[in-house]
Amino acid sequence: MKILVTGGLGFIGSHTVVELQNEGFEVVIIDNLSNSSMEVLDGITAITNKKPHFEKLDLRMKSDVQDFFKRHDDIVGVIHFAASKAVGESVAEPLMYYENNISTLVYLLQELRGLNKKNFIFSSSCTVYGQADELPITENAPVKPAESPYGNTKQIGEEIIRDACRVNGDIKAIALRYFNPIGAHSSTEIGELPIGVPQNLVPFITQTGIGMREQLSVFGGDYQTFDGTCVRDYIHVVDLAKAHVVALQRLLDGKNDSNYEFFNLGTGTGSTVLEAVQSFERVSGKSLNYKIVDRREGDITAAYADTSKANSVLGWQTTLTLDDAMDSAWKWEQKIRTK
Ligand code: UD1
Repeated sequence: MKILVTGGLGFIGSHTVVELQNEGFEVVIIDNLSNSSMEVLDGITAITNKKPHFEKLDLRMKSDVQDFFKRHDDIVGVIHFAASKAVGESVAEPLMYYENNISTLVYLLQELRGLNKKNFIFSSSCTVYGQADELPITENAPVKPAESPYGNTKQIGEEIIRDACRVNGDIKAIALRYFNPIGAHSSTEIGELPIGVPQNLVPFITQTGIGMREQLSVFGGDYQTFDGTCVRDYIHVVDLAKAHVVALQRLLDGKNDSNYEFFNLGTGTGSTVLEAVQSFERVSGKSLNYKIVDRREGDITAAYADTSKANSVLGWQTTLTLDDAMDSAWKWEQKIRTK
């Protein structure tokens, strides 16, 4: 069964390609290499002993997308990762974000209509909830006005898919709302490859640990949490990748309850920034140079998932811990810096 993975050389995309190939799916990757590299293809091949079909393609080029689907009309499922994801950049370049994340989604859905099997998995984010009134966050929590154009593209993206499913009754879609994906594959063949100064916590921690950065700035020490730092739900990228295979299989088996569904993907456990630092120190045996500084604008105090729906309806649950994820992220950092 042929599955298209857009953004399949990216962080979550590449780990998902591995899990799909492990389950026997035939994978076609498209990626424009804007935030990834061809070496990732070698990493996937080394882990799975199978090289996925790859095409360098920019989804903004509508005619290229049309041509691609003419050549691959036997695709039975699309997992759509390709998107821009830097919050600050999206504030500075909103139109670029709407083109990259929204126009491309529309083009893909238009082509999906022409396939025999119209199964679609969308990369969404817990950012759609903003600061939820109740924790843990269930799928019934209201979607809050987005804090950034990036967050808005996830909300609008979900709405576009829902509307498309409503009129094109044969399109079946699942939106997966990720909490904070971290870590790397245990083989250290693939992992996160941030360009420039990392904005996300864990790559910043591992780069500080290896000496590329002098000090981690912990953004805010006066939040209403037990140690004053923000709480997030850090999920191992391999657990997250497996959820995509489970969600896709649900659609392929026709087990979906409605033709548009959405699920939270997290561990269900919140950890503070300082707990993440302590986890790094435990697995690496190093002490991390950090300093508590002012809050970062736009950060929410706490977010972690209620995983009951994903556990019971998808039949998926995480198996890896924060320490497992941090250990893999640290091994990956050491590998890429000594190459
Ligand atoms: C961020 C985005 C979110 C996006 C997600 C994608 C913001 C406000 N939110 O989530 O919309 O979906 O990335 O991966 O940018 N921290 C530090 N020092 C650092 C970096 C982070 O203390 O150098 C703290 C943050 O304040 C936060 C936690 O670590 O409390 C996690 O930060 P981050 O990894 O950036 O994720 P989110 O902010 O949760």
